[in-house]
Amino acid sequence: MKIAISGKGGVGKTTIMALLARQFKDMGREVLVIDADSSPHMAQSLGVVEPEKIRPISEMKELLRERSGRVEGSAFYNINPKVDDLPTRFIVEADGIKLMVMGAIESAGGGCACAESTVLKRLLTTLLLKPAQVVLLDMEAGVEHLGRGTIVGVDRLLIVVIPSQSGIRTALKIKKLADECRIKNIDFVGNLVQGPKDEQFLTAGLGEAPIACFPDSPAIRRTERKGLAVGFALSEVAQITHNLVETLQAR
Ligand SMILES: Nc1ncnc2c1ncn2[C@@H]1O[C@H](COP(=O)(O)OP(=O)(O)OP(=O)(O)O)[C@@H](O)[C@H]1O
Ligand SMILES: [Mg+2]
Repeated sequence: MKIAISGKGGVGKTTIMALLARQFKDMGREVLVIDADSSPHMAQSLGVVEPEKIRPISEMKELLRERSGRVEGSAFYNINPKVDDLPTRFIVEADGIKLMVMGAIESAGGGCACAESTVLKRLLTTLLLKPAQVVLLDMEAGVEHLGRGTIVGVDRLLIVVIPSQSGIRTALKIKKLADECRIKNIDFVGNLVQGPKDEQFLTAGLGEAPIACFPDSPAIRRTERKGLAVGFALSEVAQITHNLVETLQAR
């Protein structure tokens, strides 16, 4: 299962992905989180020690070039590059959750046949071959990434939305684009939802109910301010996170 997350800037994408990672792991799944944000900070949210030492794969241009088999000055390269050893070389682990940091993937999924991007895309599709694994893909805000290779092979997209007019507008725009990208399952997840009135507001604006709604959580604020893993706040939103994982597993 490969799940990606999207939404407006700062709505809680990374936080919710980190909570999901912890919950999936606690429920016995093997979890790989891929941080595909060009300014990645999933490592902090997962509590990786010395996250500044992680170098995004996309920065390793030489390695990507070498794998793509591209000769300097030539337009030709291997479209089936060897990537199977890369995950073990670039994965860090925090409390049993695996993390891979991609960094920015500059080129488009449709059209541009950039060699580096081919290696990264292949890496993403290869990772999908392990059925027991849950792959969680954290992405940057906005909609641009939907046109890129990052989203290749994703079987679910969660769109995080906060209860405001502009939040709903952005969420609907993302949904439209995701539909056009033929992503099979697209769901909304509410964040900073303060009660039934907020939930109703979201449901009316989105035209469907979010599959989960997270409250504004003091525990999440505290862990973030202390620089701790979001997982430490899980107990305060345990039921919601648990139910969300059950919903995702059932579909
Ligand atoms: N349910 C919540 N309760 C309290 N604070 C929250 C909640 N969700 C997120 N936050 C806080 O909001 C801030 C933004 O969250 P986060 O980084 O997860 O958003 P994001 O959508 O990933 O942002 P970006 O678009 O920059 O990647 C963080 O400080 C986080 O701790
Ligand atoms: Mg984020």
